[in-house]
This record gives sequence, C-alpha cells and structure tokens, in this order.
Amino acid sequence: MSEIFSGMNKIALVTGATSGIGEATALLLAKNNFDVIITGRRNERLNQLSARLKAMQVRNLPLQFDIRQKNEVSNAMLQLPPEWRQIDLLVNNAGLAAGLEPLHENLISDWEQMIDTNIKGLLYITKIVATGMVERRSGQIINVSSIAGKEAYGKGAVYCATKHAVEALTKAMRIDFNPYGIKVGSVSPGAVETEFSIVRLKDANANQKVYAGYTPLKADDIADAILYMATRPAHVNIADIFVLPTAQANATVFHKKH
Ligand SMILES: NC(=O)c1ccc[n+]([C@@H]2O[C@H](COP(=O)([O-])OP(=O)(O)OC[C@H]3O[C@@H](n4cnc5c(N)ncnc54)[C@H](OP(=O)(O)O)[C@@H]3O)[C@@H](O)[C@H]2O)c1
Repeated sequence: MSEIFSGMNKIALVTGATSGIGEATALLLAKNNFDVIITGRRNERLNQLSARLKAMQVRNLPLQFDIRQKNEVSNAMLQLPPEWRQIDLLVNNAGLAAGLEPLHENLISDWEQMIDTNIKGLLYITKIVATGMVERRSGQIINVSSIAGKEAYGKGAVYCATKHAVEALTKAMRIDFNPYGIKVGSVSPGAVETEFSIVRLKDANANQKVYAGYTPLKADDIADAILYMATRPAHVNIADIFVLPTAQANATVFHKKH
C-alpha cells in the first residue's frame, strides 16, 4: 500500500462485501478513489477481496463480523484504527431473503434471520457510523432497499416487510440527519443475479431457474447507481434510485422468452 494513497481519499464502508452487490460496489468505489472498509461473515471471501484491492493499490480494511450480533458490530467498529474512523460513506448493503412460501408455511427462523439482518443489523452499524458523521457534520448513507420495499408480493411477506422498513428508516434518517448535512438515500433493485436466490431458496442451482428466459441485472449495474449517488456535488442528494431489468415490469411481471 503506497503512502501516496493514504489520507487523500474518502473512506467508504460497505457491508456485505463478500459477494454480489456489495463486492461490486466495493470494487467500483475503489476504482473511483475511495478507500474501502469491507465487511461480511465469510473471512476467506473478505481476504480474497482485500488481496484483490491491494493488488489494485487500494487501501482497504477487511472487518469480519455477523451484523446480527450487536456486540460483534460494536467491537469491530470500536477497534477501527484511527486512520479509518472518519467514514464518509456508509453503504448498508448486507441483507437477504430467506424462504419463498406463503406466510403460514414460513420458518420462524427465516423471519428472524431477515429481521435481524435487514433491519436490526442495518440499525446497529448505522448508529455507530452516523454518530461520527453527526460529530463531523458530513457524510452519506446509502441503504440498499429493494423492489420489495415498494411492493408487497406473495410468498415474500417478511422480506417485503423488512425492505419496507428500510424505506421508512431511509426517510426518517434523512430527517434526523438533515441538520448535520448528511446525505441519506436508497437504491432499490429489481432482480439482480447474485447469490441472493441461492441463499433465498437454499439451492446452489437456484440461479439457473430464477433467471431463465430473461436478462437480470448484474451486481455492477447496482454498483454503478451507488457510485452515481456517491459522486454528486455536495448540494445534491439522490434520495432513491429504483432500477429494474428491462424484462421486469414489477415484482411479479417478467417478459420471459421460452
Ligand atoms: N439480488 C437481488 O435480486 C436483490 C434485489 C433487491 C435487493 N437486494 C438486496 O441487495 C443486498 C445485497 O444482496 P445480493 O443480491 O448482493 O446478495 P448476496 O450475493 O447473497 O450478498 C449478500 C451479502 O450480505 C452479507 N450478509 C448476509 N447476512 C449477513 C450477516 N448476518 N452479517 C454480515 N453480512 C451478512 C453476505 O456476506 P456473508 O454471507 O459473508 O456474511 C453477502 O456479502 C441485500 O440487502 C438484498 O436484500 C438484492
């Protein structure tokens, strides 16, 4: 890591950087002069991404923790080296859907995992990072919501509820942080081909079925939207970007070629 890079760049913290949208976002921000703190549970993936960033001469800090565990989140953040403490951009991306069944058939453990990650985890890290932003009177928070935050669809009740919560939190945070000049916004993707469906359906081959017959978004498409939000002039806050694949009209209508 070259000295040339230290202290000059903005610092971004991306949660859930071990795959999909978070990984693509960390890489794209890194290519655009951000130093990046990357987080997730899977240490091996974090270390691989860290090595990749290092090879690009990007200053980066891997932080391994389960965002559902408030003590793990606060310990990791309290132990940040001083040169990493002034976080300019928080990308709240870590999240998941678990299960795709009518509500009465859902596993309660799936509900808890989604609520604990998508809502409570987001809150734990935001409280810590936003406290520093409030003190410095600057910063930006980008929450990764979903089309599930705009519409409720069958077999996805609790996932939709968690993303509706992310939308509400985004709007309320924008009010609470307004006196401090902190930008708050969200990005709301439709179908993106990542590990999302593999996790949701607990099936390593899920992507072959879920994305058959149409072209889904790629993680890079969402990273691109996040980079746009993160690089506007100081007086411009992008409040929400709602991105769909061309083949997707809403949460359930897809134009598929068979
Ligand atoms: N793909 C889509 O179609 C889509 C559409 C709309 C919104 N989204 C949202 O986009 C975000 C990213 O999803 P993705 O599509 O990129 O899926 P993904 O490839 O499965 O990535 C999810 C990321 O979240 C992290 N994560 C999950 N649980 C965690 C926990 N308990 N603690 C720490 N990190 C955790 C995972 O890391 P570890 O497993 O290493 O912990 C991983 O890095 C999610 O919030 C999702 O709801 C996705």
